[in-house]
Amino acid sequence: MNQHSMLSAPQTGRFRRKLLGWFRANKRSLPWRGQKDWYPIYLAEIILQQTTVEQGLPYYRAFIRRFPHVSALAAADLQEVLKLWQGLGYYARARNMHKAAGILVKEYHGRFPREYKQALKLPGIGPYTAAAILSQAYNRVLAVVDGNVSRVITRLLALEDDIRRTDTQKRIQHVADLLISRKYPGDFNEAMMELGALLCTPRAPRCGACPIRFYCRARAEGKTGHIPYKSPPSPKLKQYHLVMIRERDNRLLLQQRSDEGLLAGMWGFPVRAVSEKELEKPEELEEIIFKRSVLKKISPPMRHIYSHIDLKYRVLWLREHKESARDKGNGRWLKRYELESYPIHKAHLKALEWFDKQCCS
Ligand code: ADE
Repeated sequence: MNQHSMLSAPQTGRFRRKLLGWFRANKRSLPWRGQKDWYPIYLAEIILQQTTVEQGLPYYRAFIRRFPHVSALAAADLQEVLKLWQGLGYYARARNMHKAAGILVKEYHGRFPREYKQALKLPGIGPYTAAAILSQAYNRVLAVVDGNVSRVITRLLALEDDIRRTDTQKRIQHVADLLISRKYPGDFNEAMMELGALLCTPRAPRCGACPIRFYCRARAEGKTGHIPYKSPPSPKLKQYHLVMIRERDNRLLLQQRSDEGLLAGMWGFPVRAVSEKELEKPEELEEIIFKRSVLKKISPPMRHIYSHIDLKYRVLWLREHKESARDKGNGRWLKRYELESYPIHKAHLKALEWFDKQCCS
């Protein structure tokens, strides 16, 4: 038995039956499950990238209610899509989803392509998402490998290689391709993900309840504690910001981010990048306290972690009395309640939360 063809054909058949039997009896009841319409599946798979089912579910519900068909999503204003996505992060996913909806309506008569290669051409659709949608919606035999599936397979094989490496991922994909049920590929994929989410968890896996425990080498060898192995991440870029909540005549200045980069199209407050030292004593940075403004309060340091950036910031609440030359820009002076309808990125939502607490204390 080598690691590539670890099971004989009859064993593979039994493995699939065990897994699928367990899945049918134990799967969570999720709104996109058990339907063959591609659109709910598509929405769910885009939302669940880099997100747990628990975190993603309220977003899924909001999106399917507001945009029940792909044509509604395609016709929507991008700002509204971003607003509904607010708080979920990785906003490029929302932008791509909106763009893809437009293409599906225009070029595919509102349907999702059946061909893997065509699916991959859509914005925001990579090998994982294409396989997830096509297997669930059209019964195409395409195995998905996400974090949960990687964990299940590395443990199954007692594979100790670094799962960050591309060659390890290729090997895992190869095993998934061999194992996937030819008859029920969608259920098989979901079953592997579900097993990783419910039983084969990163810490304290519940091996006793696992339907495929007798095939699992990591369990047999007592290695579930250190498989999968993931090398430490490269350190994140450190950034320090002063976030300025400028208030004038009961209005706050909000600005839109440019169309590119991490938070493209989202809204936030004006920011000034500073050094770590300057963040400690922002009062000493005379020039940033505009001549015509009063510094009302400074927040304690806050932190927000992005995929590649570790951001530390403090919020300055500034009260201003006169217009300044700096106000001509892409900003809007808005009443506090008006901010509710703008898509604001998470770090600045936290800044706003802090600001809201200051007003009455
Ligand atoms: N994560 C991503 N897609 C999923 C699905 N279809 N079921 C369970 N977890 C998932």
